[in-house]
Amino acid sequence: MQQDELKKAVAWAALDYVAAGTIVGTGTGSTVAHFIEALGSIRDKIKGAVSSSEASSAQLKKFAIPLFDCNQVDGLDIYVDGADEINPQKQMIKGGGAALTREKILAAIARKFICIVDASKQVDVLGKFPLPVEVIPMARTYVSRQLIQLGGKPVHRQHVITDNGNLILDVHNLRISDAVALEDKINGIAGVVTVGLFARRAADVVLVAAAGGIKVIG
Ligand code: A5P
Repeated sequence: MQQDELKKAVAWAALDYVAAGTIVGTGTGSTVAHFIEALGSIRDKIKGAVSSSEASSAQLKKFAIPLFDCNQVDGLDIYVDGADEINPQKQMIKGGGAALTREKILAAIARKFICIVDASKQVDVLGKFPLPVEVIPMARTYVSRQLIQLGGKPVHRQHVITDNGNLILDVHNLRISDAVALEDKINGIAGVVTVGLFARRAADVVLVAAAGGIKVIG
C-alpha cells in the first residue's frame, strides 16, 4: 500500500474510539485530514469537534461538523492526531505542520490521546526528524543560540507564520535519549512558546498502519 492509503486506513480505524454524543479533539496534518473526513461520515452521531489549527477548522466546517472553542469545553474524551516520529514509550515529535502549540493544548485537556501513524513514523530514538520549536519572533536569535548550546542545529522555517503569529525553528542533529528532560529544558528558554516534543504528555493509544493491517499499541 502507498503511504497515503496507510494514513487513510489508520484514520478510519480511529473512528472505533469515537463515542456517540461527544466532542472530539482533532489534530492537524495529512493523516488527520483523512480522520476528519471519516468523522464527517458520522457527524450526526457526535456533538462536534475542537480543532488544533485553522487548516483543520476549515476542513471540519467543510464537513459541517460543529466547531467548539477550546474554552467552551471542560475536557475532551479523546484527542486524535498524527505524529512526525513516535518511539516505543509513545513519546512523539510533532509540529511538522506548525500546529504544535494548539496540538499540545488539546493533548493536555484530553483524557485519551490516540496517535494515528503509518509505520514509517516509528523510531527507537526520537530526533532524526528535525524538532520544531515555536518561538516569539523577537526571541529568534536568542533561542537559536540556546538551542545550539544544547547540541542542536536550529534552522528558521522560511515563509511560515504559525496560527498564533510566531516563527518555527526546526532543530536538526538531535538524538533525544531523554525526551522529558529535553522538553523541560527547551520549554525553559525565554521566548519559546512550545517545543514539539510530546514526552510529558505522551500518547495513550497508538494505531499503526502497515501493509499487514492496523496494529494497536495500548
Ligand atoms: C502538525 O503540526 C503535526 O504535528 C502533525 O501531526 C504531523 O506533522 C503529522 O503529519 P502527517 O499526518 O501529515 O504526516
